[in-house]
Amino acid sequence: MEYVEIFDTTLRDGEQVPGCKLDAVTKLTIAEQLDQLGVDVLEAGFPISSPGDFKAVEDISKLVKNARVCGLTRAVKKDIEVAAEALKTAKRARIHTGIGTSESHMRFKFNATPEQILERAIAAVTYAKSFVEDVEFYAEDAGRTDNEFLSKVCEAVIKAGATVLNIPDTTGYCLPYEYGAKMKYLKENVTGIHKATLSCHCHNDLGLATANSIAGVQHGARQIECTINGIGERAGNTSLEEVVMILRQHPTLNLDTRIQSQQLFGISQLVSESMAMPVQPNKAIVGANAFAHSSGIHQDGVIKKRETYEIINPTDVGVTESSIILTARSGRAALAYRAKNIGYELDKLQLDKVYQQFLVVADQQKEIGDEDLPKIIEASKI
Ligand code: KIV
Ligand code: ZN
Repeated sequence: MEYVEIFDTTLRDGEQVPGCKLDAVTKLTIAEQLDQLGVDVLEAGFPISSPGDFKAVEDISKLVKNARVCGLTRAVKKDIEVAAEALKTAKRARIHTGIGTSESHMRFKFNATPEQILERAIAAVTYAKSFVEDVEFYAEDAGRTDNEFLSKVCEAVIKAGATVLNIPDTTGYCLPYEYGAKMKYLKENVTGIHKATLSCHCHNDLGLATANSIAGVQHGARQIECTINGIGERAGNTSLEEVVMILRQHPTLNLDTRIQSQQLFGISQLVSESMAMPVQPNKAIVGANAFAHSSGIHQDGVIKKRETYEIINPTDVGVTESSIILTARSGRAALAYRAKNIGYELDKLQLDKVYQQFLVVADQQKEIGDEDLPKIIEASKI
C-alpha cells in the first residue's frame, strides 16, 4: 500500500470563492481541525494578496502541529519574500509558486514566449529555494498545456530544486483518461522525475475533478490537492472527502491516505456553516441524503442488510447511522421499522391497517416524521 498525500486548499482555493471569506478566528479553527483530520499539507492562503491573508498564514504557521503549512505565490520575487516571511514560524513550510504554461496563458496573460516563461519558472523556484527546502511548482493550466513543453518546464524546475510538481487542470477541461495520460507522460519523459512528487489539482467545471484526480494517482501522482465539500473557484475543486473514500473503498488500487475519515462529516459541517455554503443534499459522502433511503425497495434491502444499498459504513465518515425516510414511496418494512424504533410492535394485520392510513397521510405531506406516527397508528384503529 502506498500513501497519497492530501494537500488541502480549503483556506486558499476554497476561501477565494465570493461569499466564502472567513474571519481570522474561524480560519484558525478550521486549520486546527484540518490538522487533526490528518491532511499532509495545509495551504493556508496567498500571503501577498492582503494583510489579512498574510496574518492568517502567519497565525496558522504558529498553530499547526503536524501538517506542512503552505503559502501561494506568483512567480514574482516580492510574492515569494512575503510568503517566506509569513511562513517563517511553521515547523515545516512549503512555498507554492508557479506560472501559466498553456498557449493561452502564455500569450494572453503574460504576453511572453515559452522561453521567457521557462526562465521565470526557474527563477521563481530558485528564489523560493533560498528561503525554504520544500518548494512546490504549479504549471497553471497544465491541463491545456502541450505535454512536451510541460515536460521541459518540469525538468527545469526539478533541476532548480522543486520538490513537488503541481499539474493543475485549472479550467476543469481534461477527461480522466487525458489527465491520467498526462501524468504517465511526465513520469516517463521528465528526467529527474523521481526527485519530485507529482500532484493533481483539478477543477470541477465538467464535474470531473474527482475522477481526474483518481486517474492522476493511478498514473503516478502521489499528492491530491482538494477542498472540504469541493468548494473552490467556479464549480469548485476536487472534494477531499470523495478522493479519500474512493481510495479507502477500493483497496485494489493499493493507495491510501492518512485521513481520519471519521472526522469527515464533522469538518464538512464546520466548513459549510462557517462559509454559509450549504452542502447539496445529494453530495457524495457528506450530503444529508448520502446515507438516507426513501424508496420501498431500497429500504426493505437496507433493513435486511445495510450493505445491499450502502458501500460505505456511515460511521466510517462520522455519520451516526443510515436513515430510513418515510414517504409515500416507502413500503411496509420501513413503516414497521420506524414504528418499532419508537416503541410500536405491529403484527401483520395491524401493519396492513396502519399502512393504508400511512399512505393517505404520506400523499399529503412530503415526509412522515416520528411525531406523525402515533397519530397515524391511532387513526388506523377507527
Ligand atoms: O487552479 C490552479 O491552477 C491553481 C493554481 C494557483 C495552483 O489554483
Ligand atoms: Zn485551483
